[in-house]
Parts: sequence; structure tokens; C-alpha cells
Amino acid sequence: MDSKTLRKKFLDFFEKNDHVIIPSASLVPSEEEQLAGKEKVLFTSAGMQQLIPYLMGKPHPKGNKLADVQKCVRTDDIEQVGDATHHTFFEMLGNWSLGDYWKDKAIELSFKFLTEELKIPIEKLAISVFAGDEDAPKDEESANKWKSLGILGKRIAYLGKEANWWPTNSSSFGPCGPDTEMFIWTGEGSAPEEFDPKDPKWIEVWNDVFMEFNRKSDGTLEELPQKNVDTGMGLERMLAVINGKDNDYETDLSSSIIEKICEELRVSYEQYKQPIRIISDHIKASVFLIKDDVISSNKMQGYVLRRLLRRAATKAFQINKEFGRKPFKSLVKSVTDIYPMYFDEMSVESIEREVSIEIGKFRKTLEKGLREVEKIEKIDGKIAFDLYQTFGFPYEVTEELFRQKGQEIDKEQFKAEFEKHQQLSRTASSGMFKGGLENHSEVVIKYHTATHLLHQALRDILGPQVFQKGSNITAERLRFDFSFDRKLTDSETRQVEELVNQKIKDDLKVDHMIIPLDEAKKMNAIGLFDEKYADKVSIYGIGPQPRGRYYSLEFCGGPHVEHTGVIGKIAIFKEEAVSFGIRRIYANIAL
Ligand code: SER
Repeated sequence: MDSKTLRKKFLDFFEKNDHVIIPSASLVPSEEEQLAGKEKVLFTSAGMQQLIPYLMGKPHPKGNKLADVQKCVRTDDIEQVGDATHHTFFEMLGNWSLGDYWKDKAIELSFKFLTEELKIPIEKLAISVFAGDEDAPKDEESANKWKSLGILGKRIAYLGKEANWWPTNSSSFGPCGPDTEMFIWTGEGSAPEEFDPKDPKWIEVWNDVFMEFNRKSDGTLEELPQKNVDTGMGLERMLAVINGKDNDYETDLSSSIIEKICEELRVSYEQYKQPIRIISDHIKASVFLIKDDVISSNKMQGYVLRRLLRRAATKAFQINKEFGRKPFKSLVKSVTDIYPMYFDEMSVESIEREVSIEIGKFRKTLEKGLREVEKIEKIDGKIAFDLYQTFGFPYEVTEELFRQKGQEIDKEQFKAEFEKHQQLSRTASSGMFKGGLENHSEVVIKYHTATHLLHQALRDILGPQVFQKGSNITAERLRFDFSFDRKLTDSETRQVEELVNQKIKDDLKVDHMIIPLDEAKKMNAIGLFDEKYADKVSIYGIGPQPRGRYYSLEFCGGPHVEHTGVIGKIAIFKEEAVSFGIRRIYANIAL
């Protein structure tokens, strides 16, 4: 069975069983979602993430039975990537009940999908359920349901929080609860009568979580207003299992990338299995991150992207010293060809550009850095940080290079150096606007002022319910997130664009004021003001009007252009949903 068929089978099955299919959320959660679980998360790492507010009780606009295929990135296991089953990027098939069905129906649906749709013989199934502790009782309800479906008692294991509680880190805040996991026997011959969860031939394929609690910030549990079901099945792993593969890399979701890597590096897969798997995983994750607007940088999501690309580049160099930026560019297409539903031609080109620039930059220092590594007799955290600063070597790369020499690094020391440095650069740039600007180049500043005009124009055309939810500006485009509950019509998009261009043409003057907060509020300044100013705030007004009114007035630290006329002409090239109630617009300045 190929990946396309498996995705379709899953979605069709749940649709047939009264679920509404929802789209995959971005790999980068919105600000609101990043904070929803009370712990800041960099990436969407499970299907339930976009649903946190709804698991907590908010009604979901699409109903209370949902299913989807969610793109996920998890970097906690990055060191294990390259073995049979670990990836940083994967897709998760999931179904949810938001206060609708509970354990009985959830288990029945999982069982039916496995045995009837995927035709997995019951003799090859084993189950684990929660053993019980001070937070929740032994889950006999789930065990009994599995037994009623024909699973033998010996094939059911009772395990503690480390295995049967979600989130896996049981001290995480937010919605949580016990879970039941499904395993498939992948060994030769018939499965052992008794389930041994430690035997690696039993592969875990699906997890049904019964989310009935919320872990509060003080660590205690409270019951959620509703009982929810949250399930997750890793697409790559399931695909490997049903195709009788002993690892996730030899399915149609990776094999063509691996072939391309071998072709570009002129080696065989058998020769360099592990590094080739790492390159293939990291390039895939990078392509998806760039698609979701992550740009390589030294912070947050951008830093993870940079590390993935550089680690892949180092592996490639160690295999073939002649590699340059071209092979990486061609690997992008080998990824996007597998996922036509996620990429269009335009996005492929811009991803190729980003990958090629980032690899090109690193390639220049990589060789010198490796020569330096040869000379170092004893590594420590500080030297590791110097290698990062001077040659751009991510921590993982340095760690691996020295592990090959039998040396370990003190990671805490590296982290301390890293943080000290970030602190210094923060101090150096304090006083300047940091929110969402890539840099302070002329073109970025133009985009910044255009963003203010866009915010006001959206409010003029769509109404005062429009508020900024996020903004991200690069030298190529602006991206603006705002509250609005439906897709814009083509005519609305055009009107917004025309209004912004009119205000640019009017060549309005831009004023900067630092005034008391009360006064700014009285003037109806809008926008996000999360800056902790003492009592005065910084605001920007565009186009003074009679009686001190401005066309646009926003809380902002700048910088901005002096007159709007210099911006040129903007064009909105994309409008899409970020999550429910939040839209995203991309615009660029026509040259
Ligand atoms: N949230 C659970 C998981 O990620 C089930 O979807 O395993």
C-alpha cells in the first residue's frame, strides 16, 4: 500500500463514521497556539496541538468529531534520527472526539480501522493500557473493551505514565490523560502468545488518548469540562509496518529522496545508510519548515532550521568532499514531488532559493571548520561555542565529530556560552524594534510601514473586528496575521490592496511619538503593545489629518519610512487560513 492510499483510507473511514476532515495546521503554531498549552512550543508536534482550545471546552466550528493528517516536527529525538524509526518530520493521522464519544467508541473505531480497513489479523495485535496511579485509576474500562473485541488478556499490558499517559512528559501543562496504545507484531512467524512491550518486534502504531484532565500551572489536575478523545498514528511507521519493512525510510515517503541523495553524492545507500537517512530526514523537515515561512536564523524556529540544514551539509561533505550547493537544491524537488498536495511551483522555487543560499553560506566555512576540528586536542563547551560562532557549526555537528574521536562535550557549558552571547546581542540591539523584522534594511523598513497601512486598510474594508495577530517581514515579502472568521473574497482583497496603494500614492507623512499610555489609548492607537514601557509608549502615526487624527496609528517601536510614497506599489499574492478565526496575508512590493 502506498502513502496516498493509507491517508485516503484513514480519512474516508472517519468521514464515513461522521467525522469532519480538517486541514493540517502550519508547522509553526500561531502565537496564540504557542502559548495555549501554557508552555511555549516552537513546532506543531502532534495533531492535537491546533485543537487545544477546543479540548478545553471552546466549541469547534466544524463540530465535535474531527479527523486530519497533520504535518509534525519533533526535534527532541534528533540524535536518534537515522535509525529505523526516528524522524524530525512526520505526518500524524488523527481523529478526535471533543466531548462526544468516549473510550468505548474510540477503541471500536481504532479496532475496526486496523482489522477491517487495513486487514491486520487480530493475532498480530497487542495493547497497552494505563496501570493506574494517584492521578487516575487502572484503566479496566479500556482493557475490557479490547477484550470484548477479541483481544486476549495475555496480549494486554498495564503500564505506567511513562508509556500510557499523554503528553509523554507527564508534568506538561494543559489537556492530558491516560492512553491506550496499539502494537503490531513485525517478527517472523506467528506472534508470541504473551505481549512483551520490551520486545522491539512489537511496533507501536497508534495511540488513543483519553483527555479528561487539565494539568494546571501549579501541577495539580482538574477535570476538563468535557471528556475528549485524541488519537495519533504515525503515517511513516504504519506504512512501513503494513508493507513489511523493518524501517521507515524504505517507503514511498523517503525512497526517492534517498535515491536522489545517492545519485548526487555518487555513493550507494548500503555504504552510508545512517548518514544518508539523516540527510533525507533533515532536508525533508527543512523543506516543510521553509514552506511554513521559517527562515534560517540564530533564534527560535529559524535556528532549528539552520541546524538541520548544516547537519545535513556536514554529513554530505563527509561522504563526498566535492559536494556544493547544487545537490541540495535538487534534493528540494525530490521532497516536494512526494507531497504534491502541500507544494505548488512557486513555493518550490522559493524553497530551493532559501536552501541554496543557506547551504552556500555554510559551505564556505565548513571545510576550514573541519580542519580546525582536526587540530583541537580536547573539546569543551566553550570551544564548541567558538566553533559555532566562527564556522557556524551547530552543537550536534560538533558533538558528533568529537564523539567519533571518543570525546564528550559539556552541553551545559555550551548553552551557557550561547545564552551569554544572545544576551549581549540583545543588549546591543535594545531600543530597536524587534517584533518580526528580519533586519533593518531599507526594503524591510518599507514593508514595515506597508504593514501598518495594510492593517488599517483591512479594518476599513472588513470592519473593526480585524486585529493584528502576528507579523513577519523579510526582504522579499510581508506576512500579516489578523483576526477574521472567513476567507476574503477576491473583491475584498483587491479593495484592500487598492486602498493601501492609494495611501502610498498620497505620500503621507509618518510621525513618531513617545507619549503617555493613556494619551495613546485616547487617540485610539491600535496594534500589539507587549513592550514593557515604564509609562510612555512609542506610537507611529501615518498621514496627519485635521484635528490630529491619523489614517493609521499604532503602538510600535519602528523603524519606518518618512513618507509613504517611497514604498512603491504593493501586491497581495496570497490569502489563507492560519487557524480558525485567523487569516494570513502575504504581500510584496512590485519592482
Ligand atoms: N497526542 C497523542 C500523540 O501525539 C495522540 O494523538 O501521540
